[in-house]
Amino acid sequence: MTDDRVAAVARTFDGLAHVYDRSGVEFFGPIAAGLVEALALTPGERVLDLGCGAGAVLLRAAHAVAPGGSTVGLDVSELMVATTREAADALGATDVEVIVGDAQDPALPAGAFDVIASSLVLFFLPGPAAALERWRGLLAPGGRLGLATFGERDETFEALDGLFSPFLPPTMLDARTSGTRGPFASDHGMIAMVEGAGFVDARTVSLDLAVRFADVSQWEAFSRSTGQAAMWGFAPEAEHDSIRAAAAALLAPHADADGSLAVRQRIRYTLARAPIES
Ligand SMILES: C[S@@+](CC[C@H](N)C(=O)[O-])C[C@H]1O[C@@H](n2cnc3c(N)ncnc32)[C@H](O)[C@@H]1O
Repeated sequence: MTDDRVAAVARTFDGLAHVYDRSGVEFFGPIAAGLVEALALTPGERVLDLGCGAGAVLLRAAHAVAPGGSTVGLDVSELMVATTREAADALGATDVEVIVGDAQDPALPAGAFDVIASSLVLFFLPGPAAALERWRGLLAPGGRLGLATFGERDETFEALDGLFSPFLPPTMLDARTSGTRGPFASDHGMIAMVEGAGFVDARTVSLDLAVRFADVSQWEAFSRSTGQAAMWGFAPEAEHDSIRAAAAALLAPHADADGSLAVRQRIRYTLARAPIES
């Protein structure tokens, strides 16, 4: 049975599927590319991408494991799955399967994968540590795990989120903030959680990503294409112009010579492997 919290996340991402990763801002793509690179995928490997979203990791992984490899993407949002399936079909990627399911406890065969990748997902799950234990069971002995989560970011990002604070219900958490608390707050926290779930050789590497917006309108389009869309929904329509003006003031010091605005977000990759003998 699907947890209410998981069902709520599924509704959020169903609502975003038509705009997700389509704002023109390079964000999910470079993060996914970094994860695929860190996992050092090789042709023939069987990859599982948990919380595949619009396929940022999945489609890159499919390319990296060809020929002879296979990839399965799983997501709780039916509309994200439909989007990704279309994208895979458009690329003629025949060894890509995309399925609806709950990453908290994926209904997949034990030991069936060489690699599990999951980018910007684990912090949405009701029980990340328990989920990791389940994921370990899906890997073949010695199989590899790669996670992308958020690290430090520019104070400007914090301040941009802060523009919505007066309007949010106390329980509302954005993924970028919930993704930097508890075990997600440090390299040590991630390593401890992953090793606590039975993985070995856990380590982290990081990517310092310059997130570039052409202008404030593109920041807004990006923000509305992510979980932050809900924040816009909580702010009354009459406040939107002042939010835009405040965002413009916050972003102005980040303008480059071409007028584009670059804000930094560090990405933490946590890498580990399943023990050879369990
Ligand atoms: C921030 S997006 C990341 C998507 C993709 N991995 C990427 O890098 O672009 C988070 C994704 O996780 C999915 N997700 C969240 N909770 C999930 C769960 N319990 N089971 C499966 N997917 C989940 C969402 O539906 C969404 O597509």
